[in-house]
Amino acid sequence: MNETSARRIQPPATVVAWCGDDATGFLRLLDQTRLPCETAYLDCHDTHGVWDAIRRLVVRGAPAIGVAAGYGVVVASQALKAEGFGDKLTAAGEILKSSRPTAVNLAWAVDRVIASARGLESDPPAAREAMLAEARRLHEEDVQLCANIGECAAGLMEEAGWESLLTHCNAGALATAGIGTATAGMYVAAARGRRLRVYCDETRPLLQGARLTAWELQQAGIEAVVIADNMAAQVLREGRVDAVITGADRIAANGDAANKIGTYGLAIAAKHHDVPFYVAAPYSTFDLSLAEGGQIPIEQRDGEEITRGFGRRTAPEGIATYNPAFDVTPAELIAGLITDRGLICPVNAETVGRVLGGS
Ligand code: MRU
Repeated sequence: MNETSARRIQPPATVVAWCGDDATGFLRLLDQTRLPCETAYLDCHDTHGVWDAIRRLVVRGAPAIGVAAGYGVVVASQALKAEGFGDKLTAAGEILKSSRPTAVNLAWAVDRVIASARGLESDPPAAREAMLAEARRLHEEDVQLCANIGECAAGLMEEAGWESLLTHCNAGALATAGIGTATAGMYVAAARGRRLRVYCDETRPLLQGARLTAWELQQAGIEAVVIADNMAAQVLREGRVDAVITGADRIAANGDAANKIGTYGLAIAAKHHDVPFYVAAPYSTFDLSLAEGGQIPIEQRDGEEITRGFGRRTAPEGIATYNPAFDVTPAELIAGLITDRGLICPVNAETVGRVLGGS
């Protein structure tokens, strides 16, 4: 990066933090349910507190959930005595994993932190310290993964001359420990002086695009334009968008990618209008144990998110609802996967395997 022209890339707030010098500390989360109106934090001191925070989307976005759950294992271990430590830790890990099923980063992080305590089960304080060290490594690694994605995406933007982008949900700094995934290239390119406009799908029903992506881009001085989800096809038809970039919660071995509900429809609309559709994600979001996207578990959420979002009833009392939180975009609609290991293009089992096979 040219240091003289570069602006500093600064995430708008600390999303996940460990408070305390050692494993007797606690987990602090930026409460994203209160953004953009309020910057407030929630402290988690036990397994249920972490489970509930992930479930309620206090912390959300696949990589951020992973980092939080990594520290969550340390928090969970604080209540465990030496007797049965290993089994109880595994059980606590399963509870944390049950909070949200789609983002694979969650289970990946829990398993990785628990594995770091292997052989130390008879000495809980030593096990806890080892797990805290691993959770911290995972946290720092995520910052670097985002930075790598940012380099890859900014190169692509530069090469293709993109100035106007569209994104869905929040795959930004608020969804990671670093500068985001879908937003990473935006931040890097903007820091290098590139002027960008980013259309942010509002993202019904929980409005992560309007509340979170628009907020963090605005904080960074990047032009953000909020549109309701049902406007995206028209915006694409009007030729306002050079490329669509979204994040992902889990990517199967053939490149099918699960992301926030509405992403699939957006990819179809982008294809129809010849606008390239890219997915940005770190290696930790790939699940090569699944051959294709149909095997990805889709989280179902409470219908009240649709009928009484943000405290005001907008549908009749007693009405039936269906509220899948994610959908799967088939690889054939994805122009490329922007990863920390480089660009995967075209997207298929062979190219995914070649880049991610060693993970
Ligand atoms: O339900 P959410 O807000 O956790 O959904 C988040 C998304 O769908 C993101 O696009 C995805 O997790 C990628 S975050 C880098």
